[in-house]
Order: sequence, then C-alpha cells, then structure tokens
Amino acid sequence: MLVLGGGIIGLVTAWRAAGRGLTVALADPAPGGGAARVAAGMLAAVTELHYGEQTLLGLNLASAQRYPRFTEELEEAAGQRIGYRRCGTLAVALDADDRAHLRELHALQTRSGLESQWLTGRECRRLEPMLAPGVRGGLRVDGDHQVDPRRLVSALLAACERAGVAFHRSAAARLTVGGGRATGAELADGTRLSAGQVVLAAGSHSGGLAGVPDEVLPPVRPVKGQVLRLRLPEVPAGSPAFLSRTVRAVVRGGPLYLVPRENGELVVGATSEELGWDTTVTAGGVYELLRDAHELVPGITELPLVETCAGLRPTSPDNAPLLGPTELPGLHLATGHYRNGVLLTPVTGDAMAEALTTGSLPEEARPFSPARFSPAAPGPEPTPAPEEQPV
Ligand code: GLY
Repeated sequence: MLVLGGGIIGLVTAWRAAGRGLTVALADPAPGGGAARVAAGMLAAVTELHYGEQTLLGLNLASAQRYPRFTEELEEAAGQRIGYRRCGTLAVALDADDRAHLRELHALQTRSGLESQWLTGRECRRLEPMLAPGVRGGLRVDGDHQVDPRRLVSALLAACERAGVAFHRSAAARLTVGGGRATGAELADGTRLSAGQVVLAAGSHSGGLAGVPDEVLPPVRPVKGQVLRLRLPEVPAGSPAFLSRTVRAVVRGGPLYLVPRENGELVVGATSEELGWDTTVTAGGVYELLRDAHELVPGITELPLVETCAGLRPTSPDNAPLLGPTELPGLHLATGHYRNGVLLTPVTGDAMAEALTTGSLPEEARPFSPARFSPAAPGPEPTPAPEEQPV
C-alpha cells in the first residue's frame, strides 16, 4: 500500500500498517515535516472540549488513553524518546467573562463524565506561582498531558525506516485510477507507483490532489497557527519550575496556551487564521501571542525568544478527521485532524491499520468515515482489502 504524505498522520499510518504485515511505501518530499513541526503537542481532550463535539470527544479520549502504551511501543521500535509528559493542565480565567466561559466548560465536562476540578484564583496561583495576580479562577485537569511533536515525528520516521517502509522523497502529483479503483500515484519527480490501496494523508493539501474524483475529494482547508518557542530558566534541583504544567486561557476570545517541556522549551500558541496557504510569521501574530501570554504569566517577558513559526491545521467542516475507505475502492483518507492531530495520532494509526487490513474501521472510528460528507451515499459498505500489489 502507498501513503501520500509524511506528516505524523501519514507516518503513523505507514508504521502501523507495516506492523500488520503490509508492504508500505510513503511519498513526501520532506517526510517528518508538516503541522506537527509547529504544534505544541497538548493532549487536551478535556480542556479543548467544545459544544457539539461530543462524538469527537470519544475519539480524543480513546487516543489519550492509548498514549502510554503507544509511547512505550514507539520508543521501543524507534530507540528514541518522544517526550510524553503526564503534567496535567490548568485552564485559567483572567476576567469575569473568561470565568463565566470556564464555568460553562466545567459544567459541560462534568455532564460528559470528565475529571476536572474548579479552583479559585488563589488556588491556581498556589499551583503555578508565576500566574498573574489577576487570575480569577481556573480548571485543574490532571488528565490532559503533553508530548513533544518534533520528537514524536522523529521517532515515527525511525520506526517506519526500521519497519521497512520505502520512502519516496517527492510529492504526490496525481492519484492514478483504473478500472474504477485507485491504483497508485504519479509523483512530482515522474515516479509512478502502483498500489492496491492508497492512503491520502497529506494534511491541508489532501483536498487538492489531482486525479481524485470530486465526490471523494476531502473537504479540508488550511487554518494557520503561529507559535513561539521561548527558553525556560534553569532552576536548581528541588526548586519549583517556572511552570510545572500546561497553562491555558481564552484571551480576547482566542485560545492561548503555554506548554513547558522537560527540555527547557516553553511553547506559546497559537493564532487561528483563515488565510489560505499563507505561513508568514507576522509582527502582529507574535505581538498578540506575547501580549496575551504576558497578561497570563507576566514573567515570560524575561525569557529568551528562540523561535517563531507558523503551520497549517488541516480542517474539515465539522472539525473532525476523515478516516478510512472512500467510495472510490482502494482510496482511503487520513486527514482533517484540525487541532487534534498530535492527540489523535495513536488512534488514527490503529484505525487506519485496521481499515487497510480488514476493509472496515474499528467501532470508535466509524463516525469519522469520509461518507459523512457524501449525502448521496450515507453509509459506505466496507471495502474488502484487495490483494497487495508491488509499490
Ligand atoms: N491544539 C492546539 C492548536 O491547534 O492550536
């Protein structure tokens, strides 16, 4: 089988499929790139809960639960650590409006059976003394952790290489179709690859691949996020860390988060901009992130700013991923993960490997079939896994 796209979703699909005994090729001009190089790596199933996204919550929770085992397996397979850190998250309110919003989120979390604890401003500052004195209250969510997406990508690349995935360092230019099914792809460098099954996992670019019939082309669009990386001060052993957990807030209507890593990095994100393919880091974006982060944690202005970057979240009309077989036999999708790509990596790998080997998605992934965007065909029959062809 052939995976088009070598970001975290393409890589985890390739690794898990190879683990099920499939012969796997992957095409990408720069495998390991994409949105995960920018992402902060919050595993925020509970703190990123939104009204109307309860179905997605189920998938997010399933993936969060798999992270410890996934981490063990991947670190063993790759011989590298991925920076999975069970640090928990504190979501705080800076004013009365934020407080009301957090109270509503807390009620929704409680109704959904999720663990979160309401804290006063003073209790928040006791946990995280660097927080601004004006913090009005917050939610302590001990189950929302983090991973380092750059280390995750690096480990997935190594695991794929060790599992025998064949890398073609060129972009997919066209899906090839014959006899009413996907048959492979032509790459930008002229290479032609044939495959019994093709997985389109090209992030935001998945919606524009030539050769994909209109009715199965995934409706994904890019949503830009700008992110900053600061360097945390070294603290003597036994002294409190600058921040001990992820801290987040909604500031002026936009989500803001500060993710402290064990390696001394503090990731501050993120803007959310509908600007097509633009990945410019702007003065305005950096200014807004620093201004809002400073309101939350005034001490950040003392920290070295070491990197600014921007990435594109692959976004679907319902903010949930498109997973598994399409109505074009042989073509699968693994895209549209929007704000949850890093969180959903373990469950996506498992779901795609299952679909590729059995023809159907596992129970928890079925609501995310691409068929939901195809009103003409409300429920696709599972596509039987065809005989593998050389790729
Ligand atoms: N999950 C955080 C973001 O997309 O900004």
